[in-house]
Amino acid sequence: MDKFRIFGGRPLEGRVAISGAKNAALPAMTAALLTDQRVILNNLPRVRDISTLRSLLEDLGVDSSVTHEAHGNRIEIEARQLLNPVAPYELVKQMRASVLVLGPLVARFGHARVSLPGGCAIGVRPINLHLKGLAKLGATINFEHGYINARANGLRGTDFYFDTISVTGTENLMMAATLAEGVTVLENAAREPEVQDLANLLNKMGADIEGAGTEKIRIRGVRRLHGVEHSIIPDRIEAGTFLTAAAITGGELVVDRCDPAHLTAVVAKLGEVGVQVRREGGPGSNGTQALTVKAGSKLQAGEVTTQEYPGFPTDMQAQYMALMTQAEGSSVITETIFENRFLHALELARMGADITVNGRRAVVLGRTPLSGAKIQASDLRASASLVLAGLAAEGETLIDRVYHIDRGYERIEEKLTQVGARISRISESD
Ligand code: EPZ
Repeated sequence: MDKFRIFGGRPLEGRVAISGAKNAALPAMTAALLTDQRVILNNLPRVRDISTLRSLLEDLGVDSSVTHEAHGNRIEIEARQLLNPVAPYELVKQMRASVLVLGPLVARFGHARVSLPGGCAIGVRPINLHLKGLAKLGATINFEHGYINARANGLRGTDFYFDTISVTGTENLMMAATLAEGVTVLENAAREPEVQDLANLLNKMGADIEGAGTEKIRIRGVRRLHGVEHSIIPDRIEAGTFLTAAAITGGELVVDRCDPAHLTAVVAKLGEVGVQVRREGGPGSNGTQALTVKAGSKLQAGEVTTQEYPGFPTDMQAQYMALMTQAEGSSVITETIFENRFLHALELARMGADITVNGRRAVVLGRTPLSGAKIQASDLRASASLVLAGLAAEGETLIDRVYHIDRGYERIEEKLTQVGARISRISESD
C-alpha cells in the first residue's frame, strides 16, 4: 500500500487548480443509465472512485471511453443495452456510491440487483430511505444473500418525505422519478450543490425537475431522456481542503477553478478563526473563480457544528479539527451527520494534539506544536486532515494507507508539491 512522506514546516505559496467534484461526477455517471444515447461528461476528477464506478458500469454492459483533457477527464457513456443488472459486493464494498445505479436501473430497465453496501469507518450508513422511496414509486424490493433485488413494471410518481436528509438518497429517487409516470415530490430533500448539478444534467437530458437546491423537489416524469454534454462542478471539499492547508502552514494560496458560492459556510468559519479568504478577480472562462487565502498571524479557537448544506459540511470537519490544533484556546467541534467521524483525532493526538472526544463532540485545546509521526489513514477526509497536520508538523510524517486519499483527491501530493510542500509518495514496490 502506498504511503506519503511529508516534511512539515513550509508555508504553502502559489496557485492550485481545483478538480471537478467527485460527488457530482458519480451521480452524473449513473444518470447516463437513464438513456440509450451518448452522455458526455467533462471536468471529471482523476480519482479512484470514478474508475471504480466506470468498472461497475462496464460490468453492467455499458460502453464508455475516457480521454485525458487539460482540466480533468472527459468520459463518453452509452447505455444502449444492459447485459447484467448486477452491482456486485466486490465493487459496492469498495465504494458505497455504487448504490446510485439502483434508481436509474429500476426506472429504465425495471430490474436491479445491488449488493447492500455495508457500513464503513465513519458509520453504519444505511440506505433504508433509498429503498423506502423506490418502493413508494412502485418498485418491489426484497433481500437475499446480502443483495437488494428491485423490480418494477414502470414506476409511478408519488410524494416522499425523507425522515433524514440524504444526499445520495435524494439523487437516487430524483433519477428514478424522471421516468416515472406522473409527478413525484421529494420533501426534506438534500440541497447540496451536487444535487443541483445532477438536476441540471437531468433537465438537459429532457427531464422536468423543479426545486433542486431547496428542500422540496418536484419531478414530472417523461417517457425518455436523450444524450447530452455536461461539465461537472468544481469540488468544494477539495477547495476547502486547500484553503485549510494554506491556513495551517501560515502560507498564502490562490485556489483557482472553484465556485465560492459553494463555500460560504467554510469561508465564514475560517474567517472566524483569523483566516482571510477573498475572491480574486472575476469569473474565469468556465464560470469558476479564484479565492485567495492568507493565514492571519495567529489563529483563534472556534466552534463548528456540521450540518447539511448550506451548513458547515461534515466532509470538512476533519480538516477543521487539524487546523484548530494550531489555534490558541479551546475549540468545540460537533459532528451531527455521522456517528463515528472522529477517527482522525486519535492519529492527530499521536502527533501531539490535545483532543477530547465525547460522543458527537470533540474539544481541541490549542495551540499544540505537532511533531511528525507514523500514522494511518482511515477514511477519505480523515486522511486529508492527517496530510494537513503533516504539513504543519516539525519533522517527518509517514502516512500509511493513502489509497483512502486517492479515492477523492486528484494527485494531491503533486498539487501540494507545486505550492511548496515537501511531500512524496512511497509506492509499495519502492
Ligand atoms: C454523501 O454520502 C457523500 N457521498 C458523503 O461524502 C458525505 O459525507 C455525505 O453525503 C454527507 O454530506 C457522496 O455524495 C457520494 P447521506 P451519503 O445519505 O449520501 C443517514 C466523501 O467524503 N441515512 O447524506 O451516503 C446516514 O446514516 C463522502 O466524499 C439514513 O439513515 O450520505 C447519515 O447519518 C463521505 N438512511 C445521514 O443520513 C438512508 O437511507 C446522511 O447520509 C440514507 C442516509
